[in-house]
Amino acid sequence: MRTDTGQAFRLEDYRQSDYLIPELEMIFRLDPEKTLVTTKLLIERRDGVAADVPLVLDGDGLKLEKLLIDGGAVEHNDHEATADSLTITRLPRQSRFEVTIVTRLAPAQNKALMGLYVSNGVYCTQCEAEGFRRISYFLDRPDVLSTYRVRIEAREKEAPLLLSNGNPAESGALEDGWHYAVWHDPFPKPSYLFALVAGDLSAVRDRFVTMSGRGVDLAIYVEHGKEARAAYAMDALKRSMRWDEERFGREYDLDVFNIVAVSDFNMGAMENKGLNVFNDKYVLADPETATDADFANIEAIIAHEYFHNWTGNRITCRDWFQLCLKEGLTVYRDHEFSADQRSRAVKRISEVRTLRAHQFPEDQGPLAHPVRPRRYREINNFYTATVYEKGSEVVRMIRTILGADTFRAGMDLYFERHDGQAVTIEDFVACFEKASGKDLTQFALWYHQAGTPNVTVATSYDARAREYTLEVEQSVPPTPSEARKRLMHIPLAFGLVGPDGQDMAYDGVEGAEVEDGVIHLRKRRHIVRFKGVQARPVASLNRGFSAPITLSLVMRQKDRLFLACHDNDLFSRWEALNTLFTEALIDASTRVRGGKSADFDTTLLGYPAEIAADEGLEAAYRALALTLPAEADIAREIGSNIDPDAIGRAREALRKAIAREAQETFARVYRDLGDDGPFSPDAKSAGRRALRNVLLEYMAAGSGDPASAVRQFETASSMADRAAALSVLAHQFPGGDAARAALAAFEERYRDNPLVLDKWFIVQATTPGGKTVDLVRELMEHPAFSLTNPNRVRSLIGTFASSNQTGFHRSDGEGYRFLADAVLAVEKHNPQVAARLAVAFRSWRSLEKGRQEEARKALARIAGEKELSRDLRDIVERTLA
Ligand code: PHE
Ligand code: ZN
Repeated sequence: MRTDTGQAFRLEDYRQSDYLIPELEMIFRLDPEKTLVTTKLLIERRDGVAADVPLVLDGDGLKLEKLLIDGGAVEHNDHEATADSLTITRLPRQSRFEVTIVTRLAPAQNKALMGLYVSNGVYCTQCEAEGFRRISYFLDRPDVLSTYRVRIEAREKEAPLLLSNGNPAESGALEDGWHYAVWHDPFPKPSYLFALVAGDLSAVRDRFVTMSGRGVDLAIYVEHGKEARAAYAMDALKRSMRWDEERFGREYDLDVFNIVAVSDFNMGAMENKGLNVFNDKYVLADPETATDADFANIEAIIAHEYFHNWTGNRITCRDWFQLCLKEGLTVYRDHEFSADQRSRAVKRISEVRTLRAHQFPEDQGPLAHPVRPRRYREINNFYTATVYEKGSEVVRMIRTILGADTFRAGMDLYFERHDGQAVTIEDFVACFEKASGKDLTQFALWYHQAGTPNVTVATSYDARAREYTLEVEQSVPPTPSEARKRLMHIPLAFGLVGPDGQDMAYDGVEGAEVEDGVIHLRKRRHIVRFKGVQARPVASLNRGFSAPITLSLVMRQKDRLFLACHDNDLFSRWEALNTLFTEALIDASTRVRGGKSADFDTTLLGYPAEIAADEGLEAAYRALALTLPAEADIAREIGSNIDPDAIGRAREALRKAIAREAQETFARVYRDLGDDGPFSPDAKSAGRRALRNVLLEYMAAGSGDPASAVRQFETASSMADRAAALSVLAHQFPGGDAARAALAAFEERYRDNPLVLDKWFIVQATTPGGKTVDLVRELMEHPAFSLTNPNRVRSLIGTFASSNQTGFHRSDGEGYRFLADAVLAVEKHNPQVAARLAVAFRSWRSLEKGRQEEARKALARIAGEKELSRDLRDIVERTLA
């Protein structure tokens, strides 16, 4: 374990390396306990660097077996090798020379899942961000680009399949049952994109012909017997390849494209050049084992990793501060892809829900950081919702500001200018300035300044003057180490909705630049006057969530309800309803906390039945509209002195009240949407199931009777429907006979399928209430649970801490004590995953006093451990600061 040294890396300290590595050759002789890695580096001294400047290579836990320069031994005095670095002080005078390094690894012992490890008998590597240095000494930084030639030797029985990046070059048999394969990647790449896979896997094959007519052999490798479950991923891959050609003009560039699914993986997937490695959760799916959310995730992540080939691989990051250069942009691209493949409005609503659930609390808590951070202690902790999701929102805003065509022109310029380079956010933004002729200096603050801006709006209508006025004010709250903020350029899409639901025209506008339905806020305060407005409109603001902000707009409930019914922007309709629900829930939780009953306005209670039955709306949209804000959403809106139990009770009361009010309609729609023939994962069918399953939840809540959920559980023909019924039973009737029977049947049916058992762990870990923590502790002893498999850990421990408000925040602090124990146990072998679990503590200061104190104690206990990893210490100290 790499322990903390307290050292922080700062953006302003960036300097070029003195040496480059234009080419390297690697030879792996694979063995679980004793793998030998020979790395032959072609080193090039940069112009102007003196020959006595030492060559310092990064390592992490390495042992040097051998070192040669230009084939000759290196004197003892001329180099120093530690676990973490190799320094060579005496070097040849000529500017190019060859350094050969031999290291020895034990991949079977590697449970941190960084570098070379063994997952279920398969050798694989993970190098992003700094895993290559766990394989060999190297200039392990993204601005050092090299072409790789990789020879893999292994026992043929153990590993008939040998893969690395690029194109296959040669292969053959060796003595004693060994064999080898050589791969050559002609595209210079940073070390974090290196990958190797060796094992006994099955291939699902296909072929893609690119827009210029080049054939590409596609393969997805999975464990034997799981081939059929990779069909959907293959289909998604081909659609992604076509889409990137059509939408961005980007063509694939190698002869092969390989994807490997592994069962032990710290993250979702990895875009290694020509050899993507995936968490098997994001590859394997069929109707029996995958929910609709699983299918949608697979489609999105396959696309995401594929899109990295251009945004990340062909053009990469100069340093890790620029992580959003590849991640924010690639998330934006995968969002657009999913929107085109499915329903744009529904996709946008889901994106915003995710952003609010994950990025807003980050931006509003102790771990807040800019989309492009300026300092880090451990880069692993910066694969965050801010870098990914807010990073995507920033790209989306560029498109909003420039318009689709100019945005595309800027992207084309980016690809043309920077192909083959390692660049910065400034380089990226400059392409859009060049393409548009606009100055994006103020806009670029979105990359540099942390915190969620708040925009306050007051509206007024002067009937005599026919003038409608918006008084708009922006503020950005302080965040850690950024007390004072500068004013942002906020593109606020809007409509003035008239009495007939249509957007109203106006003759002119003063007070802000308004263009194509977007108000550009640049100053602290704008008074925006619309002239010639014939009747009092209702303002629909931040349409499509054009900017990732919070909006404070006092509005009559009647007007909000009007928008919820009539706004012609579907996102804003959803937003209006969601705001109504949120306001009602905040109010109700205050009452509940004060010992009163949670009462709700009857107009609001009448609306859900209308939505459920409105066939003019897509089913998926109706499902989202009927989904109440999550407990965590309500807590975030309340902001401080939070009592999760009161919120839970208020939400439960609203669900029941709606269910009773809409009982007959819900039951009828549920019935009418019933069986639709054989399963198809397409968006329309998924939407139909989503709506049915939301209705099922209400029906159970309204009736207090598990019968309909039991029936659905028993007759379900897909995992989507079966898992939904299971969670209704387990969450609404915990401990009851129906819930027990369903949980037992599910466990029995999927005994041998770890990915499905994850759903069983998740359902139980998210059961509301104070008893769940004991259940989770118990489940850690279950034979299918493993502390070393990240998917198991996340399903049971991670979802409990991040998605079970009343369970995790049990008022006596038991949830916090449990998480502290679990984090420390996981950290022993996997610091990266442990640090991510600990992030669940981040909003502790917004809790009521008693819970705050319990959470602080749990955090302090972790911080008090003597030997903490850099990953965990960084998170815990920033959270406590
Ligand atoms: N680069 C990966 C992605 O977003 C994420 C990742 C980071 C995977 C670090 C593994 C390790 O596509
Ligand atoms: Zn990515």
